[in-house]
Parts: sequence; structure tokens; C-alpha cells
Amino acid sequence: MSVLPDGEACREQTLGEIHAAALGQPCDGQVADYIPALASVDASRCGIAFATLEGEVHVAGDADMPFSIQSISKVFGLVLAMQRMGDDLWQRVGMEPSGQPFNSIVQLEWEHGIPRNPFINAGAILVADTLVSHFSSSRQAFLSFVRRLAGCERCDINEEVLASETRHGSRNAALAYLMKSFGNIEAEVEDVLAHYFFQCSLEMSCRELATSLLFLANRGVHPLSAERVTTPRDAHRINAILSTSGMYDQSGQFAFSVGLPAKSGVGGGIVAIVPGQGIISAWSPALNQHGNSTRALKMITELAGRLGLSIY
Ligand code: DON
Repeated sequence: MSVLPDGEACREQTLGEIHAAALGQPCDGQVADYIPALASVDASRCGIAFATLEGEVHVAGDADMPFSIQSISKVFGLVLAMQRMGDDLWQRVGMEPSGQPFNSIVQLEWEHGIPRNPFINAGAILVADTLVSHFSSSRQAFLSFVRRLAGCERCDINEEVLASETRHGSRNAALAYLMKSFGNIEAEVEDVLAHYFFQCSLEMSCRELATSLLFLANRGVHPLSAERVTTPRDAHRINAILSTSGMYDQSGQFAFSVGLPAKSGVGGGIVAIVPGQGIISAWSPALNQHGNSTRALKMITELAGRLGLSIY
């Protein structure tokens, strides 16, 4: 059952109020510029969508404007890798919070090339390696998978962002080569990075993102297509790691103040899973010092608080 107040107008009003309040406050934070193509995005953009298991999508603001999903793509990559690898995956990547910035390299050497979790850059690069090794064309498999989940053939990568990621990807290359030196990357590093940058460059709207991830709120079954995407156990595991690591080194604070499994990206998007109810997706480009969108954080915090959505 939908938790938003009854009536279509009332539902849209709740999101509309939250969106207007976020726009009304001064926007602290900076648009990501370490990937130059992201720096040209209009910082005043702001949207939110709440897709419910019943198939309704409530929206406010720029909810239909595609944006760079960046690290939110790590969720799709992980799901595909879990489908292909089963429990073997967890020999090569951990499930603990890192407590470090998302692109940190120090911990990886101490821990012999085993990334702490699949949602930091090193972990997602490791996941990309398993996809490159298991699919004849991992990039096409990834794109088809996301398009099917979103019910949207339009979703595509942004070539300019892809070129920019590739040109400015030295730190990610360092992470990949370090893991390769420990024997934890099987494919050629260039191929693994090509897949990783490709998935980070995907553009989707808040509406498409919220719709695509509904299976995580529904024990692994996508409610619109009835496709079983993961087992209930894997949906539980993904949500558990999202709860502890999806917001990087702000995950503890997010659990403390919001209480939902969530994933952010440096394009300014955040998705939050509301088990048994639906998916919230918010977007606004300016980021705080952890790499999480300041306005998207505010909107999700407010919506979860007003509707009592915390899982704890
Ligand atoms: O590899 C990177 O650094 C970016 N393509 C993605 C990082 C990201 O989105 C982290 N998010 N908060």
C-alpha cells in the first residue's frame, strides 16, 4: 500500500512542498569538477520521484531530466555480477564499510587488493572485472539490463562524460592496477576500466532510476514486469550493504538521520530503497564534501521524516 497521503493531488503536493523547500534554501556545495564534463551541469537543477510498488510514480521538479548516474551504476553492476558469480563474488570483495572517501587507495594495499565493499570505486572496478570476464560484451549486457529494468530503451551513455572519465581516470587506473598486482583482477585492466567508465557515464532521470530499482523494495521481483531479478536473499544483501556503505563515509550519518538503504553518485543523484513500498530518487548537482548531493539529501531526509519511512 502506498504511504503517501491519499489522492493524486495530495501526493504530488507532498513532493512539491519538499522540492520547493529545498530550492528555497541556499544551496551549499560544489558541482563535481574532477570529471570536467560534469562541471558544466546547471547547478540549479533539482528533481525528485517516488515510484511505488503499485506502479505509480509521483514527481516534482526536474524528475524527467536525464543526468549522469555515476556511482549509482554500481548497484546495477553488482546485481549483474551476483547473478553471474553467485557466492564466489564475496571471495574477491568485502561487505564492510570503508570509512574512507570513495576513491581512496590506502586501505586497498593494507588489505591485499580486496576492496572493502562493492560501492567504493575499487569494489566497483572489481565487479566490472567479473562482468568483463563473464560476458562477451559486458557493456552491451549492462545497458540492456538497465534498459529492461527501467522499461526505457532511451537510457544511454553520455559520450562526452565517457571521454572525460577516461581522460581523467588516473586514480581509478591506479586502483585497478594495484588490484591486478595482488591477482584480484583477471581481465586486462584497460578492458575493465572501459566497462567501469561506460557504466558511470549512463544517464537516467529520477523517474527512470526509481522505476528501475523497484525490485530492491520487493524482495527481488520487479513489480511492473514480474521478472525475478535477484533472490530474496540477494535483495536483502544488497540493501544491507547499501545501508552501511551506499553513501560512502557519510553512510553512518545517513542511517542515523534517514534510516534507508541508499546510493549516491557524483552526478548529484541519490536513490533510497523503502522496503515493501517503493524507491525514492532525487537529483541536484551540487555536492557536499563526501560527494553526496546536498539538495537531494535534504529532500530525501524530509520525505522519509514526514512519512516515517525509516527501516529501523
Ligand atoms: O569513478 C569515479 O570517481 C566516478 N565515475 C564515480 C564516483 C562517484 O559517483 C562517487 N559518488 N559519490
